[in-house]
Amino acid sequence: MMSPQLPQGFAAVDGGEDPHAFVSYVDAVSALSSAQAYKQLTLLMLRVGEGARVLDVGCGTGDAARALAQVVGPRGWVVGIDNSRTMIEEATRRQNGLGLPVEFYVGDAYQIAFPDEVFDACRADRVFQHLREPKKALSEMIRVTRSGGRIVVSDPDWGTFIVNSPDRDLTRRIVGFACDATTDGWMGRQLPGLFREVGLQDVQVRTSLVVIEEYDTAKEVLGIEWLAHGAAQAGVITSGEAERWLRGLQEDHAAGRFTCGLGGFITSGVKP
Ligand SMILES: C[S@@+](CC[C@H](N)C(=O)[O-])C[C@H]1O[C@@H](n2cnc3c(N)ncnc32)[C@H](O)[C@@H]1O
Repeated sequence: MMSPQLPQGFAAVDGGEDPHAFVSYVDAVSALSSAQAYKQLTLLMLRVGEGARVLDVGCGTGDAARALAQVVGPRGWVVGIDNSRTMIEEATRRQNGLGLPVEFYVGDAYQIAFPDEVFDACRADRVFQHLREPKKALSEMIRVTRSGGRIVVSDPDWGTFIVNSPDRDLTRRIVGFACDATTDGWMGRQLPGLFREVGLQDVQVRTSLVVIEEYDTAKEVLGIEWLAHGAAQAGVITSGEAERWLRGLQEDHAAGRFTCGLGGFITSGVKP
């Protein structure tokens, strides 16, 4: 059963009822072909090659860090940090024996435990939406990146959460609740402005759309059942409406009409 905190409870994974549910969640997202496409783009936008030193902030289970380690090769160095010990233990377990130039540490995006300018590039994927002080985290990423180095931050924007449902009014209320239940559901659209505000140059924006056509996958990855019941608990809808909405989605799935998706922003900038 899905943890009641997913997908919005990532600020404190280890403090949750079932931290390993977050590992399964990250894996479920990574398995989606539309997620793989945007993730690949985030890596390309870092523009790193052999010998580069790269930091992944909020690295989760370390998939991107391991992929980057293949790119930078033995002369390079990749570090993944995450404030969840559960995530770092899993990332470390997965890289054991691979011989890749990658290291994982428990660490906080607000206080990155590395000296100034040690990395050529720095990234964070789906982390800033969970941060109360994204500017502070971005400033830390800039501090540890060398002048001329590139920073890439990608986040969904829950204002783009789309669900094909027979009941549009109910859907609007539930997706609105989903957006507001995230620490900053509008993080995606705010990234380009944030990058400029902190003085990053050559700011470039790409977009992503993760599309899901199976009810069970949407339940796991977008938390549609939790969101419907959460909206009912918050008084945004009634519990009868939550049941009706979910029933409608299940019927749509059976009829081949189920589609939902979440858009995101991938923003890159260069440290002056
Ligand atoms: C949605 S997951 C994304 C993980 C990974 N970047 C990916 O794309 O698969 C968000 C990650 O950010 C981490 N996180 C949240 N707040 C953090 C903070 N203040 N410092 C470091 N990591 C944080 C969580 O523990 C979690 O692993």
